[in-house]
Amino acid sequence: MNFQLTEEHLMIQKAARDFAVSELLPGVIERDEQQQFPAEQIKKLGELGFLGMMVDPKYGGSGMDTISYVLAMEEISKIDASASVVMSVNNSLVCWGLETFGTEEQKQQYLVPLAKGEVIGAFLLSEPEAGSDATSQRTTALEDGDHYILNGTKNWITNGNSASTYLVIAQTHPELGSKGINAFIVEKNWPGVTVGAKENKLGIRGSDTHSIMFQDVKVPKANRIGDDGFGFKFAMKTLGGGRIGIASQALGIASGAYELALKYSKERKAFGKEISQHQAIQFKLADMATKIECARLLCLKAAWLKDQHEDYTLAGSMAKVFASETAMWVTTEAVQVHGGYGYVKEYHVERLMRDAKITQIYEGTSEVQRIVIARSILS
Ligand code: CAA
Repeated sequence: MNFQLTEEHLMIQKAARDFAVSELLPGVIERDEQQQFPAEQIKKLGELGFLGMMVDPKYGGSGMDTISYVLAMEEISKIDASASVVMSVNNSLVCWGLETFGTEEQKQQYLVPLAKGEVIGAFLLSEPEAGSDATSQRTTALEDGDHYILNGTKNWITNGNSASTYLVIAQTHPELGSKGINAFIVEKNWPGVTVGAKENKLGIRGSDTHSIMFQDVKVPKANRIGDDGFGFKFAMKTLGGGRIGIASQALGIASGAYELALKYSKERKAFGKEISQHQAIQFKLADMATKIECARLLCLKAAWLKDQHEDYTLAGSMAKVFASETAMWVTTEAVQVHGGYGYVKEYHVERLMRDAKITQIYEGTSEVQRIVIARSILS
């Protein structure tokens, strides 16, 4: 077993760190306050190859491994989780889904611009009544000659307005349950597609989250992904990798907050010495560092399994549940270490605490991860 990162991994980690500090840190507080999508920064992330990191270079990607992706996600998320969620959805849900299951035509037409970061994508599964219970899709796509006619509403869609390519999960044969579901590539500017109001969120406020409505949208049959009825498995397999991305985002939020708390504890004096010299603070820092290291190892193990083409479903869910709970705990403790300063915006930790919460909810709640883990260990 080798825990050493390669030279290439270290270079990617450094490139992501440098980008986060020079391009994302300036204005991150204002973007959060004003709910401003980091459009310019996302364009640059795309130019650097961070939006199609694992895609084969023949389809415009960077051809990196999943370990590199975890390292980059951690560094970007330390500074700006609103940017890293765009990166995670584009890489894990949209590009991976298309590269793994798309036809050659679908890859040429849609994957190449997505992997190059020329456009971004969104993954449309959740509905008002189908969040965790993903089989209960109400959106329908009914066959009509060489098209499907799509009707319904999707909720809480990350990149809802900024994406131009949507991967939409819909029921085609409602009587068949999970086997009657399909996945489709839908373009945002097609007639009948409407972007709803932007959600006013607790955290990741710079990312744009919308509901999307479909009314009699004509989707060519050539835009269905995989065989008829493959949509639920497509969604589950894609989310399996997505959970590694969100686990890494949670890891980054936690380690960002920890680094700020560590620095502050060495600067701030109370009762005649730096607060880092008080055991009450030392124990907090020790617990933060230990939990973060556990989360990092789980993320890297899931990534390594994926790179070895082994089953990573269990490892991805373990990484996500542990990293997201670590992020919530560490960020709350980081605010505590900062005292009153932690509760105001300039010190960043209150934002990281708000950003942490979503990692326990999206791409499968902590409860869903525990369902996946329990099913695996009991099977
Ligand atoms: N890989 C392959 N196939 C899978 C699978 C996986 N990981 N998980 C399930 N399946 C298959 C099953 O084998 C089964 O197939 P068969 O009928 O052929 O045996 C079929 O799918 C149905 O599976 P289940 O009976 O297990 O399905 P279920 O209804 O009990 O649901 C669940 C299981 C794990 C709770 C699932 O519904 C789930 O993951 N829910 C959470 C959904 C989610 O993560 N939503 C996030 C939205 S996207 C998002 O958040 C993006 C963003 O904005 C950042």
